[in-house]
Amino acid sequence: MSTIIKNIKYLYQTEEGPGFKTKVSGADMAQIPYIEDAWLLIENGLIKAFGKMSQLTDFKYDVSYDASNSLVLPAWCDSHTHLVFAAAREQEFVDRIKGKTYEEIARNGGGILNSAAKLRVMDESELYDQSYARLQQVIAQGTAAIEIKSGYGLSVEAELKMLRVIRKLKENSDVSVKASFLAAHAYPIEYKEDKESYIKLIIDIMLPKVAAEGLADYMDVFCEQGFFSVADTERLLEAAWKFGLKPKIHANQLHYSGGVQVGVQYRAVSVDHLECVGEAEIEALKKGSTMPTLLPAAAFFLGIPYQPARQIIDAGLPVALASDYNPGSCPSGNMNLLATIACTQLKMTPSEAINAITINGAAAMELDQELGSIAVGKKANLIITQPMNSLDNIPYDFGNNPVKQMMIQGKFV
Ligand code: NIG
Ligand code: FE
Repeated sequence: MSTIIKNIKYLYQTEEGPGFKTKVSGADMAQIPYIEDAWLLIENGLIKAFGKMSQLTDFKYDVSYDASNSLVLPAWCDSHTHLVFAAAREQEFVDRIKGKTYEEIARNGGGILNSAAKLRVMDESELYDQSYARLQQVIAQGTAAIEIKSGYGLSVEAELKMLRVIRKLKENSDVSVKASFLAAHAYPIEYKEDKESYIKLIIDIMLPKVAAEGLADYMDVFCEQGFFSVADTERLLEAAWKFGLKPKIHANQLHYSGGVQVGVQYRAVSVDHLECVGEAEIEALKKGSTMPTLLPAAAFFLGIPYQPARQIIDAGLPVALASDYNPGSCPSGNMNLLATIACTQLKMTPSEAINAITINGAAAMELDQELGSIAVGKKANLIITQPMNSLDNIPYDFGNNPVKQMMIQGKFV
């Protein structure tokens, strides 16, 4: 099965090879390679060839698509979500407007524990159906690779239930799905007075089961004051590595918690959130290859200070952007809106934002060798946009969906 897309106004994020780039850092983030007036050939789900319309030679294909006035880009790679959850938490949203903080709500049994109470009693098939609907919603907005976390179960059974739902989403969808095990998201009510036993439960009981069933790619920890300390995080990551689970952690959202440093020390694939980042965190990041992943839509929704993206990029580091889609701090998986927030609030340029949600987002899920750019041999997960002038219009047209047509593994969806 082969498809040709013709008359593409601009084909963005092209890569000639040999080999594939792994990520884009520092000043290079301002550049997005492109071809004007382009064609793109897809065969058996993979990118087969591309070039300029003026140099289009005659070859056979099954389907032809006219992309006049449209841009074509690699689909968005969302490397941090909590897409599997049982219920919305709009009451906490209202409580925050009236003055409560995210941490106060969490201390009073709301927040993550609120989500856990609802998820534990929901049966697996209903949880799956809700999550599948959310996945379809974010695909329609341009996402075609996604990381999804557990962490609203907080018991052996409920954590496994979440991870099985994620596995089923992966089996029943052509988008690339990565799973992170996040039992260390909060201490469940029944362990409130005995936190040590919960950490032991994660290490001795949950981790072996998760690893034996191959249910997760990564280990996540909410390393934050009032949640899991740096010492807790070290123990959890140490144990995770023994089971082959690499870290991808929640760090420095609410405090200068040491999360970034411990993440780099344990060779985390990414450290995510990073509202509280200064010189020490930047120095730590420069010493490793951990991807700094910013979640500004969560900062937007909670009304907390934004991540210092400029300082991080200007230090020569890469940046990925991810949605953090979850019912508490960011009930949206819309990567287009995320790009707008990154531009207007973090002062990233549109090109930097697009690099952060394509190749660098792919790298934050170790998918950079199969997704995130337009390169021969990579999966054909593509966005064909509405008619527009350039990629600057994607964050500019905020609130509108730039997607005209999605292609996932060579199939129009
Ligand atoms: O990434 N910060 C920790 N975890 C989530 C929010 C979880 C929740 O409030 O349900 C986050 O923002
Ligand atoms: Fe998160």
